[in-house]
Amino acid sequence: MNAPITPVPNDLDAYWMAFTPNRAFKKHPRLFVAAEGMYYTTHDGRQVLDGIAGLWCCNAGHKRPRIVKAIQDQVEELDYSPGFQMGHPKAFELANRLKAIMPGDLNHVFFVNSGSESVETALKIAIAYHRARGEGHRTRLIGREKGYHGVNFGGMSVGGMPANRKMFGALVAGVDHLRHTHGIEENLFTRGQPEHGAWLADDLERLCQLHDPSTIAAVIVEPIAGSAGVIMPPKGYLERLREISRKHGILMILDEVITGFGRMGKPFASNYFDVDADIVCTAKAIANGVIPMGAVFVHDHVHEAFMQGPEDLIEFFHGYTYSANPMACAASLATLDTYEEEGLFYRGTELWDYWEDAVHSLKGLPHVVDIRNMGLIGAVELESIPGHVTRRATEAFLKAYEKGLLIRTTGDIIAFSPPLIIEKKHIDFMFETMRDVLKTID
Ligand SMILES: Cc1ncc(COP(=O)(O)O)c(C=O)c1O
Repeated sequence: MNAPITPVPNDLDAYWMAFTPNRAFKKHPRLFVAAEGMYYTTHDGRQVLDGIAGLWCCNAGHKRPRIVKAIQDQVEELDYSPGFQMGHPKAFELANRLKAIMPGDLNHVFFVNSGSESVETALKIAIAYHRARGEGHRTRLIGREKGYHGVNFGGMSVGGMPANRKMFGALVAGVDHLRHTHGIEENLFTRGQPEHGAWLADDLERLCQLHDPSTIAAVIVEPIAGSAGVIMPPKGYLERLREISRKHGILMILDEVITGFGRMGKPFASNYFDVDADIVCTAKAIANGVIPMGAVFVHDHVHEAFMQGPEDLIEFFHGYTYSANPMACAASLATLDTYEEEGLFYRGTELWDYWEDAVHSLKGLPHVVDIRNMGLIGAVELESIPGHVTRRATEAFLKAYEKGLLIRTTGDIIAFSPPLIIEKKHIDFMFETMRDVLKTID
């Protein structure tokens, strides 16, 4: 039975929506009014299957009882506690829980409220780390073309998405970029990790020649580039980047804001790719997207560099009013319980083959020029209409929404990243819907 119809607010003008064509949206608004499990309910009373876990964040699905209860209990007990000079038990408990699931010696956790803050924090830690060790000349940051690291100045600067950068002036100085790994002809329609392109990691070596390694603080990449349209790392690429960065004393930052917390069929992409970064950025699914939260994981050797000098002085002049907010910590602890109880970190491994076949079943449909998948991530790339990049994928997005499926698009690439509670019947629905959609778009 359809849910009752909820009235649309009658004036949509005041709310300036993020990353949305506001005027087009407000002519044809799409509102969600409720969510449970795999589904959203729309204002016009329809059920829409969540094919992207909100924004890659609701990995346990929606309205999960443990998380709802934990938040209700927490607001009764301790609604807020300052994160500077004061602590509360759940912040320490959460840091310990997190460090136990993160591989390697990433044993220290700095809490933030979003992916963008996670990245800004990581970049600041990297520069301050070198300074603390007497290498204050290492200030340069290396990102990658097509990288997305959020929207704050540091993340935008190391990021490599032209549309996100072009309006904002000269950005942070002293940043350079590796080339991206997208569009290698031999990798088209790859299932899993692509074979070709590890050599692109040698760009770091090239930038070391240009700038001299002694000027470089850190290199930051996403293990899988999400926002630029789901770009998988070629086999050996991340390992090579690790090798080169280590050789030159450059910190390696992995941005796991979307790959963290089970997306890859393992707790983190760091587990999946077996790459031992110095700093790992997380956010989104850390608290199932329910309350803003993020965590920067810091390797012992990096943390140790700060824990020097007089003990009564602040070691790192950085933090946010909502760092380790009690509500967010409670939500995150309940989220970790849910992931663990339901085996959700490994769901992407269990479903890998089924998911892969379903995503690749779209091969041969009109406009499809590439398909890729890993874990519970999939992408279908469409040929762009000349002079109208994004139009085709946007039409697919709107048609899918009408047919009861939420997807996400970047340029003309469609991304899928469902909640990890997905079942085979939902996967069937997703790709049957996409088949219908792709047959009907121009
Ligand atoms: C890899 C990556 N880093 C950072 C961010 C920014 O996260 P937020 O939107 O929470 O600031 C995102 C968001 O999608 C992301 O995908």
